[in-house]
Amino acid sequence: MSLTVLGITGSLRKGSYNTALLRACQELAPDDVEVEIHRLSEIPLYDRDVEVQGFPEPVAALRTAIAEADGLLLAAPEYNHSVSGVLKNAIDWASRGKDSPLDHKPTALISAAGGSGGKHAQDHLRQALGHNRVRVLEPAVGIARAWDHVEDGVLVTDEHRRALQALLVALRAEILGATVDD
Ligand SMILES: Cc1cc2nc3c(=O)[nH]c(=O)nc-3n(C[C@H](O)[C@H](O)[C@H](O)COP(=O)(O)O)c2cc1C
Repeated sequence: MSLTVLGITGSLRKGSYNTALLRACQELAPDDVEVEIHRLSEIPLYDRDVEVQGFPEPVAALRTAIAEADGLLLAAPEYNHSVSGVLKNAIDWASRGKDSPLDHKPTALISAAGGSGGKHAQDHLRQALGHNRVRVLEPAVGIARAWDHVEDGVLVTDEHRRALQALLVALRAEILGATVDD
């Protein structure tokens, strides 16, 4: 049986370090785990007036992708000691309704950021995801001064590659309802 993990990047930037981390995760995932990368460029700003008319197509596609995934990998840039508006906005759309696809989803957090390594962004994400009782894996992975560790779109630092690999093993175990030592 193979597992699907949806990697959502919270950056719209072509050269995004967070998207680079997701590409590294595609390489480093266990053999039976496939990481798909989902971009948020088409997601409109949340508007309750729009929601009551029906989810816009990119939002419906995001919700379906989350629902069909066995787990989530949220790649969160940090902006001003918080999560990027792009990612928070997507979470707001995905969180809606009694049938929210976020409910209880096994989820790992990763960040490529500046000095903090995304610690504050991840704290705020945990808070926001608490609403849907998302099963957030601990610890998260945060990479400070991301620009020192990504070259030509590739995560090159072995220590960080190993941390992502371990995180993916732990996420797989969380999805399967087991501990890493089982
Ligand atoms: C508006 C803005 C605010 C930022 N604030 C922080 C911050 O509070 N802490 C931090 O570690 N990095 C901060 N950064 C650095 C970003 O997290 C870093 O550039 C990151 O690589 C952006 O993600 P991306 O490469 O995936 O686009 C900030 C960057 C911008 C543009």
